[in-house]
Amino acid sequence: MVQVTPFLLVLLLALGAHGLSVKKKCSLPGRWVNDLGSNMTITTVNGNGVFVGSYHTAVTATSNEIQLSPLQGSLQKSLNQKSQPTFGFTVNWSFSDSITVFTGQCFVDEYGKEVLRTMWLLRSHVENIKNDWKATRVGTNVFTRLQSQE
Ligand code: BTN
Repeated sequence: MVQVTPFLLVLLLALGAHGLSVKKKCSLPGRWVNDLGSNMTITTVNGNGVFVGSYHTAVTATSNEIQLSPLQGSLQKSLNQKSQPTFGFTVNWSFSDSITVFTGQCFVDEYGKEVLRTMWLLRSHVENIKNDWKATRVGTNVFTRLQSQE
């Protein structure tokens, strides 16, 4: 027992150090909800980082009935792949003549929870160039993974 104890100590230290160096990866596929209550599903990310999905917004700048809308995006695939990658995606709204582009980063927070911090530009259609100045809204959204699949 006297000889075993230092061995165990070294083993535990080694395992502990290994555990600390294993960083949890933030990954995009799955279902997400944002601070407005909008839901987003990212279905697949291919080998080039190109992804598709669908978006159900909780709010609209129009008086139209909200419908599920497609999204297409791209995940940054750097040579030494990052555990908290940057990404961008476009939502082509099915129920309005607007487009939204999102850009953001997939983080793992201090509690090990994945979170998407994004900024967006919502471009609305205007009838003529004189109205261009009021056609773009800007904002931020924070997405967290929907509970059922953590
Ligand atoms: C439109 O109103 O023309 C389309 C819907 C726009 C919804 C915006 S996109 C940015 C913000 N984040 C959301 O989840 N919804 C709003």
